[in-house]
Amino acid sequence: MVTIISATNRPGSSTIRLAQYYQRRLHQKGLEAGLFSLTQLPPDLIATDLYGKRSAAFKPIQDIVTRTEKFLFIIPEYNGSFPGVLKAFIDACDLPESFYDKKAALTGLSSGKYGNIRGIDHFTGVCHYLHMHVMSLKIHIPDIKKEFDENYNLYKKDTVQFTDEQIDKFIAF
Ligand SMILES: Cc1cc2nc3c(=O)[nH]c(=O)nc-3n(C[C@H](O)[C@H](O)[C@H](O)COP(=O)(O)O)c2cc1C
Repeated sequence: MVTIISATNRPGSSTIRLAQYYQRRLHQKGLEAGLFSLTQLPPDLIATDLYGKRSAAFKPIQDIVTRTEKFLFIIPEYNGSFPGVLKAFIDACDLPESFYDKKAALTGLSSGKYGNIRGIDHFTGVCHYLHMHVMSLKIHIPDIKKEFDENYNLYKKDTVQFTDEQIDKFIAF
């Protein structure tokens, strides 16, 4: 099972638009991927699902994570790194088995100039700590507001080319 993680709980995020684009593109290339947005986390996650606690609301989410062998994380830049809610989500999952020896591809995005280069590096460190195999081709999309057409598809030639290369490698990964 393949799951795209839209790694923010901010309503109306560009991250979910980009994650949906990747899901469509994977579908066009013959791979069905699920999409889990961190907006779907229990709002009281930090009280109900950390440090050995497990809520009924998180159980189906844990089930998705457990069944997933290959993850694609779409990660926005928040204050020079990845969002805290992504780390809270990781901390809430059953560890180490949720991620151990599984595969991950990473895409960063931002409204600023850097496309979350540093946050993707930070999250790569977390993935390696969890014994995940991180695909070496990582994509960074700065100035995300200028990247979508009216249907929330990527349309710039170089962005489409680089993301397609990543998607092809992800399918083969
Ligand atoms: C809490 C927060 C911190 C942010 N910090 C940065 C930042 O450090 N650098 C940057 O380029 N954009 C920053 N942004 C803007 C996001 O990169 C921008 O909203 C972009 O669309 C991706 O995030 P989104 O998926 O929430 O829309 C920040 C946004 C939020 C909500």
